[in-house]
Amino acid sequence: MSEELYVLHKDVRVKVDAKKTNDWFYSDTVKEHFFSPRNFLRDKHEIDDFDGYGDVGSAACGDRMSMWIKIDKKNDKIIDCKWQTFGCGSAISSTSMLSVMIIENGGMKIDDALKIKPQDIVKRLEELPARKYHCSVLGDKALRAAINDYFRKTKQYNRIVEEGAKVIDTALKITDKDIEEAVLEGATTFEELQKKTKIGVKDKSCIPEAKQLLKFYMEKYFGKEDGKNG
Ligand code: FES
Repeated sequence: MSEELYVLHKDVRVKVDAKKTNDWFYSDTVKEHFFSPRNFLRDKHEIDDFDGYGDVGSAACGDRMSMWIKIDKKNDKIIDCKWQTFGCGSAISSTSMLSVMIIENGGMKIDDALKIKPQDIVKRLEELPARKYHCSVLGDKALRAAINDYFRKTKQYNRIVEEGAKVIDTALKITDKDIEEAVLEGATTFEELQKKTKIGVKDKSCIPEAKQLLKFYMEKYFGKEDGKNG
């Protein structure tokens, strides 16, 4: 006997075709981290002697993430991490996993933590629906902001890595960050990118650079140009 599946859409119970919703199923690891998030900040005293703080928002969905890190200064390692978020279940699971990754085995070197990519977190979670990748970017960005905060507080200005936005389409003021967000929201071809952002509609000279950036972000977040995992 086949089970019937329902989802809530705008408060209305809608029947869905299970065969077409496989991409939306979450792995057991995602669910486990969602129900028992690791290193979640429950009491503000837990971060009394922490060394770096980052607070970021996602332009893709308007959610927010705060992260605190404690550093073993002698060994340049992150030895503790706490976080809080107003993000969704995928953001909770992926940040929980990220926090485990950076403090397990005695802590990760700061330089190695800066090399973690969202797809590394997704790999440890044993998959995340492609449309939810931007949720894993939220924790990653908060970690980078917390590390930069630590560098600032300890006057290691040469190690600060700021990610600024560059205008690509001068007519509509569309930046590389807008392209990044569009990719994280599911754009996989230039046509899809243009539909979401209107890039190149007025300023056609920016199209080659926009295509390059599309390719760059597809590889960065999905490991492949066509956006498919594996
Ligand atoms: S963090 Fe906003 S939808 Fe997941």
